[in-house]
Formats: sequence, C-alpha cells, structure tokens
Amino acid sequence: MSDFVGSDASATLPAPQSAELYQMNIGLFYGSTTCYTQIVAEKIQVLLSADPSLPDGSSVTLHNIKDQPLTLMADYDLLILGISTWDFGELQEDWEAHWDDISAVDLTGKIVAIYGMGDQLGYAEWFQDAVGMLHQAIAPQDCIRIGFWPTEGYDFIASKAVTSDGEWFYGLALDEENQYDQTDQRLNVWLTQLMNELVEL
Ligand SMILES: Cc1cc2nc3c(=O)[nH]c(=O)nc-3n(C[C@H](O)[C@H](O)[C@H](O)COP(=O)(O)O)c2cc1C
Repeated sequence: MSDFVGSDASATLPAPQSAELYQMNIGLFYGSTTCYTQIVAEKIQVLLSADPSLPDGSSVTLHNIKDQPLTLMADYDLLILGISTWDFGELQEDWEAHWDDISAVDLTGKIVAIYGMGDQLGYAEWFQDAVGMLHQAIAPQDCIRIGFWPTEGYDFIASKAVTSDGEWFYGLALDEENQYDQTDQRLNVWLTQLMNELVEL
C-alpha cells in the first residue's frame, strides 16, 4: 500500500485480488457543511474513475444531497454515502433535512458503502455518530453492506458508528482535524477493499 501514501488522489489503485467485476454505475451521495465530505467525494470519483479494475463503461456520479433528491439512488448498482457528524452527535444538516426520504428509497439488492467525517478529539463521545445513524437507517432494507473499517488507530470515547464488538466502524472513518495526514492513505486502502469485497460478492 505504500504506493498510495501521500496527497496525490489521482494515483492509480492497485488491482483487486480477483478481476471479475461487471460494469458498474456508482452513485456517490454526500452532504457537506464545510466541504470536507465533498472534497473526499471528489477524490473518490477521481480514484475510482482511474481504477483499471472497473470495466469500461463504469461511471462514478456525485450527488450533493443539498440539491439532489435521494430518489436518484434508484439509478445505481453501488451507492457510496458520505456523511459528517455535527453538534455533539447530530446528522449533517442536509442529511437531516432529507432523513425521512431514506426509507422511501428502495435499496433492495443495492450495494452500499458509507464514509464519514468526524473529529475524534474534539467530539470524542460522539465520534462519527452520523455514520452509525445512517447505517441504522438503511439496515431494515435488503441491501448489501460493504466497506466496514477497523477501529484500530483511532482515539475516542464513544461512537454510534461502531459494531458491538468494538472492532469495526460501519464505514470508513476520516478525521481531517486530527489525522489529516492519514486521509489519502485510508481512502486508497478503503477503495481497494471495496473493489475486493465487490469481486467476492
Ligand atoms: C461545531 C462542530 C461540531 C462538530 N461535532 C462533531 C461531532 O459531534 N462528532 C464528530 O465526530 N465530529 C464533529 N465535528 C467535526 C466535523 O464532522 C468535521 O469537521 C467534518 O470534517 C465536517 O465535514 P463537512 O464539512 O463535510 O460537513 C464537529 C465540527 C464542528 C465545527
């Protein structure tokens, strides 16, 4: 993974362990108050668009949910959802505004990965809570969840985004306040993990 340490988000991803992927329409839906989640969304789009393991014809489309409806999720095979946590464990404002729409979108058979932005030192008792809330909101639906991420390497007190055994976040946890120098590496490793999980489905 050392090839992918650094700030060059256009670096090519390593090939997944198996090469059988079908053409994918990937929709990335995010809400972002101060642009951090949006910047990561744009990096993901660049990285996946350059990924040779995604077949020709695959696409990655960004949707800022501030002005684009969640019903557009119906158009995609793979959904990547980006969310930040605000104000002591609250949802990012655009996700909050459209929260009731989540249950109205049919996610049956769709593959869903989540990434979150948070501050593990400033808000240690609520770190990445919104990721946990989004995970719970889609849990009743018959979708396929991928992209859980290890909790090792973080320092926080409590989080709704963690599995009951404490080993995993329900998605990639990024912290631009305290671990900004790890973001690009985590992103590259996570995207490679997603590709590997996809070929194993
Ligand atoms: C007023 C304020 C409240 C915050 N509350 C939390 C919180 O409860 N939990 C957390 O993990 N991060 C919290 N954060 C950190 C944000 O999630 C982080 O800055 C994130 O990168 C913002 O992403 P966005 O600009 O895309 O919305 C807070 C930040 C601010 C400024």
